[in-house]
Amino acid sequence: DRPRPLVAGNWKMNGLKTSAKVLEEIHAGYTPGLKAKVELAVCPPATLVGMLAQISVGSRVAIGGQDCHAKESGAFTGDLSAEMLADAGATYVIVGHSERRQYHKEKDMDVCAKAVAAHRAGLTAIVCVGETREERESGKTLGVVRKQLRGSIPVDSNSQNLVVAYEPVWAIGTGLTPTIADVAEVHALIRDELRRLVGKADAPKVRILYGGSVKPSNAADLMAVDNVNGALVGGASLVAADFLGIAGAY
Ligand code: G3H
Repeated sequence: DRPRPLVAGNWKMNGLKTSAKVLEEIHAGYTPGLKAKVELAVCPPATLVGMLAQISVGSRVAIGGQDCHAKESGAFTGDLSAEMLADAGATYVIVGHSERRQYHKEKDMDVCAKAVAAHRAGLTAIVCVGETREERESGKTLGVVRKQLRGSIPVDSNSQNLVVAYEPVWAIGTGLTPTIADVAEVHALIRDELRRLVGKADAPKVRILYGGSVKPSNAADLMAVDNVNGALVGGASLVAADFLGIAGAY
């Protein structure tokens, strides 16, 4: 059986208090029919997690953070722990997004420690992996993704506390997407690795999201690919109609 798909919006560094109306519009369009088919999550900037989680009580749109520190608390000025996100009402946290790997020099072992922290706090970690354009062009994609998975997914992971997001770095915010065959190839590799990492019985239940320039117009094709169990949506998640359009591709 295919797991219940998850469409998660990553607002990145976008959103002010006025953005609550985007979530309210998402709620309005999250009909019982859609709810039966797909789970929705919104990952706003940390300043909005508490407020959006309150707005979402009862609506079943999950709220997530975009990053967390590996430690529970301490002298880490500017950082946020997984416990703080959970306390604010989050149930998900994205870890290892390529923008964190690129701009904050996060390595697989850092991502793994953050995923452990997420699990410790009772959050589901959305662990991101994906190759750069150079890696794709030199035929290294599968090796790169395999190495990221083995280094970034902690041993305490299971289908309840882990979601994997495949985001080719060159497809993020560019309007470019891999071919359907390329998406299928990488997602099959991820499923295969998950058998090693979480066991044969649980591996089929782990959601593997595709991310990178997902829009309402390409969502149906991408979501129909084997082993694609949802989407991690950046730009299009800032507009409720687009986000709902992507969710409606199911
Ligand atoms: O986390 C989301 C991704 O980085 C995708 O961003 O949909 O704007 O390409 P995008």
